[in-house]
Amino acid sequence: MTESQETLSNLLQENRRFEPPAALAAAANVTASAYTEASADRLAFWETAADRLTWAERWHTTLEWEAPFAKWFVGGKLNIAYNCVDRHVEAGNGDKVAFYWEGEPEGDSRVITYADLQKEVSKAANALTALGVGKGDRVAIYMPMIPELPVSLLACARIGAIHSVVFGGFSATALKSRIDDADAKLVITADGGFRRGAPSALKPTVDEAVAQCPQIEKVLVVRRTGQDVTWTDKDVWWHDLVDSQSEQHTPEAHDAEDPLFILYTSGTTGKPKGILHTTGGYLTQTAWTHNAVFDLKPDTDIYWCTADIGWVTGHSYIVYGPLANGASSVIYEGTPDTPHRGRFWEIVQKYQVTILYTAPTAIRTFMKWGDDIPAKFDMSSLRVLGSVGEPINPEAYVWYREHIGASKAPVVDTWWQTETGAIMISPLPGVTAGKPGAAMQPLPGIVADVVDDQGKSVPNGGGGFLVIREPWPAMLRGIWGDPERYKETYWSRFDGFYFPGDGAKRDDDGDLWLLGRVDDVMLVSGHNISTTEVESALVSHPKVAEAAVVGATDPVTGQAIVSFVILRGNAEEGADIGAELRQHVAKALGPIAKPRQILIVPELPKTRSGKIMRRLLRDVAENRSLGDVTTLTDSSVMNLISEKLPSAKSED
Ligand code: WT7
Repeated sequence: MTESQETLSNLLQENRRFEPPAALAAAANVTASAYTEASADRLAFWETAADRLTWAERWHTTLEWEAPFAKWFVGGKLNIAYNCVDRHVEAGNGDKVAFYWEGEPEGDSRVITYADLQKEVSKAANALTALGVGKGDRVAIYMPMIPELPVSLLACARIGAIHSVVFGGFSATALKSRIDDADAKLVITADGGFRRGAPSALKPTVDEAVAQCPQIEKVLVVRRTGQDVTWTDKDVWWHDLVDSQSEQHTPEAHDAEDPLFILYTSGTTGKPKGILHTTGGYLTQTAWTHNAVFDLKPDTDIYWCTADIGWVTGHSYIVYGPLANGASSVIYEGTPDTPHRGRFWEIVQKYQVTILYTAPTAIRTFMKWGDDIPAKFDMSSLRVLGSVGEPINPEAYVWYREHIGASKAPVVDTWWQTETGAIMISPLPGVTAGKPGAAMQPLPGIVADVVDDQGKSVPNGGGGFLVIREPWPAMLRGIWGDPERYKETYWSRFDGFYFPGDGAKRDDDGDLWLLGRVDDVMLVSGHNISTTEVESALVSHPKVAEAAVVGATDPVTGQAIVSFVILRGNAEEGADIGAELRQHVAKALGPIAKPRQILIVPELPKTRSGKIMRRLLRDVAENRSLGDVTTLTDSSVMNLISEKLPSAKSED
């Protein structure tokens, strides 16, 4: 293969390695034998994983696969809320803490045991029934990060209603379109939540959406902030209805393939897709991966996933996986900089958190804020660190390991998607020698590959498209109401393989590196260059905290690399910083990857889940008016960036 025909360039070289700590490896929940077992008999491996759950009726067929439609554990019946809550109480662990909830206002906290959770979920399930919600009905949930949120999910799961959580930062239009698409009959919400030190209203947004949604029969409202709300005849207070319900509720067993939830994902463009997940396979894989990837010891670990429950990370790794495993978790309502930039580390110290799961965007923000902030807190309890949501740049990985993990806690970079339901590619902390920036290997039971544009596996050292070759238990079962779009989006690019839309490379040892969305790949003088590699090279410069790069049309090279860079807190913006950074990238990746322009900016445009919106940066780089900015966290960011543009110039 000549260089110009390569599917995706492999430029970044990274030689650092971190062996698993000996003590962790010696006591690890999952050892290297899991890979051998799973490759010898993949279905038997997943059956054993499913046996970690409590089934009311055992399945008769492990997998029915009529591509691209899968059914797992066919004939099996179970109740997810029973598995996540009741069975722990029955096993004598009712006094064990399920959630340490920390509100944003300091001192506002609650401790919820498994016995408390059983009562709360039972009452909420009875309340849903009283509101006329039954099995298969859709319930839209639009809430802050308060205990009633996981309780609502579990109450739906308990009665077989399908929840559709809409992130509490979305607009009335976004909420309305999701209510309509799923045809929900109930909304669960709150008056508001606390964000950045102040009550932030939710109810007015719900009022606006529900006014245009006649199918909504009732709105169940938690009083969280006590702020004024407008009351309509559809509204019911949570404390009036739920608190008066019986604490007894018998969970009915649901079919393994009964729907559990819909979660909308927008991808980069287009109408949001309602990703559908079902019951038995989803809980099997979320529980197994949570146990394996974080090495969870339910009796001693304190686990904290900082995601919002409005995203799939929160569904799978705050609610379902950890509770199925009987974990004790922290839930935090607010933002990392309220009331100060050490809030996360203060929480780690307070609860002696042992496992932390967060996102690269947060890690890079902490790097920007400075090393001195985490250094003020005792975080010696931390023993495993996780990352999810975007490729983690090697420099951010090493910073996370050093400054948060005291250079001893392994970092697990976990690749997955809303669609995959659970972690797919990740190191195992007691097995894998980690490489900063690499998600390493598919987990046992997962068959992933990197292929060229013809669908042929690339050799070690090559780059291309990530595909999943075999069905997996937590896979999406479709797009709500749109089977054609499901086939078209995920199964048409490569015959018989699932295509997640990400680029990847396989290094010389055969380990996997995720390189971002293929839509973001740049074509520079005939080379396909991933934005991730150039961004990582920029972040490896000591003055850089965060970087985003895009390809902009260029008369000479086809596309040219334009970089947007945020400097670290202590770095000076010297006159020649642009030249310095361009040289730095050329040295790290080769001259082909040298950016045409470097723009120093104060912020980057991000989605509310923290992903960089490169599409908007391309608009800026190509001097176009901006496209759709509705999913942007803070639209004033784009003005700050555009102002920087006239001063940007190419240096050679
Ligand atoms: C997309 C999925 C998975 C839960 C949160 C995001 C990117 C996710 C990684 C990672 C490189 C990653 C991919 C993926 N992504 N984790 N560890 N390394 N990229 O869920 O919103 O559905 O986004 O996030 O591009 O396709 P999502």
